[in-house]
Amino acid sequence: MLKNKHIALYISGSIAAYKAASLTRLLVKAGAIVRVIMTTAATNFITPLTMQTLSKHFVYPQQITTADAPVAHIALADWTDIAIIAPATANIIAKMANGIADDFATTALLATTAAKFVVPAMNEHMWNNPATQHNLTTLRTNGVTIIEPTVGFLAEGYAGKGHMREPSDIVNYVASATMPALLANKKVLISAGGTKEPIDPVRYITNRSSGKMGYALAQVAQQMGAQVTLVSASTLPTPPGVTIHKVTTAQQMQTAMNDNFKQNDIVIMAAAVADYRVLHVATQKIKKTTDNDQLNLKLVKNPDILATLSQQKTHQYLVGFAAESQNLLANAQKKLINKHVDMLVANDISAKDAGFNSDNNRVTVLRPHQASQVLLLASKQQIAKEILTIISNEIKNKKPCD
Ligand code: PMT
Repeated sequence: MLKNKHIALYISGSIAAYKAASLTRLLVKAGAIVRVIMTTAATNFITPLTMQTLSKHFVYPQQITTADAPVAHIALADWTDIAIIAPATANIIAKMANGIADDFATTALLATTAAKFVVPAMNEHMWNNPATQHNLTTLRTNGVTIIEPTVGFLAEGYAGKGHMREPSDIVNYVASATMPALLANKKVLISAGGTKEPIDPVRYITNRSSGKMGYALAQVAQQMGAQVTLVSASTLPTPPGVTIHKVTTAQQMQTAMNDNFKQNDIVIMAAAVADYRVLHVATQKIKKTTDNDQLNLKLVKNPDILATLSQQKTHQYLVGFAAESQNLLANAQKKLINKHVDMLVANDISAKDAGFNSDNNRVTVLRPHQASQVLLLASKQQIAKEILTIISNEIKNKKPCD
């Protein structure tokens, strides 16, 4: 979501400066172009070489420099789309609040008109000090976003408020703030991952779904302002701000989807659900025998969750996915009609560079009585953004009787 955004990352002198390395890595992974500015105090905690290697650009030092432009602090200020100050010490917060510009970082910050995100990290008493709180109020009034610290274990050896937010939370926060709120006031229910059907206490039947596509949809829907519930058969970490229900089997997934269906506006089945489960699950581990080279497992059909949800549909916009290894469009078209969904997103799982467990996807979006729409190869986050943008337009244009 931060693709091609120009992000200036200002690092000031806190022990949390080490987290700026993963923050940079995540920003670059999200497609942003990152420039790093470090105060001298910051270089006591993490080296400029680390930050230069991760951002693929030299690091601006504390002193005013002419390294890449005659007036480098103004050139950087004008180049910036988003400024993130992480970690932000009480000192740099005080300077920003009072317009003090006595080094490269604070001069560029004073000059930039870009959106600013301050991510404080400090001792709890410094955080609670009225001077710091007054400075933070000034910054908020000036339109600066403060990504507040959490209560956590501080370097001083005790727990308190002042713990810098995790890099993944910061990226998500910045991405949300810069994402159009297309799904504000909407409730979105998404399933993700491959269900697991037990054979015995040791073994199970599953498929190649990682959950990445469903999780990307959940993350982007949350960033677009939706209240998101994720029913997950995956082990991926829960995206920030998303309510999660962990399940294992198709039957558990059906129960969780049914329980949440009524109160949601958009329901997306991105999970790869096992079509069959083992009829008699062994209570003890099945032993290998010497007299029989074959083992037969009797399978019984699982419920079709999507088809049953479509029967309960009232106001919901219902979306299915289809994983096809041949005749992609013909098979997906059949599913669109047979499962009575508003949209079917077809994946060609024979492609090596997309689909199951890949970070990227390439899909075709089918809707009743409309031309199909191809979404070209892109990150699953980008594909999720495009799918959710189409859904938000469909909902906007939907007449109450549709
Ligand atoms: O998880 P990733 O590694 O990121 O991979 C993403 C994905 C390829 C798994 C995903 O994008 C995808 O295609 N999910 C649907 C896979 C699938 O099960 O397709 P299907 O053609 O078997 O099912 C069609 C639809 O019916 C799906 O929405 C499925 O969730 C649903 N279904 C299927 C069987 C069943 N018993 N109940 C269902 O609700």
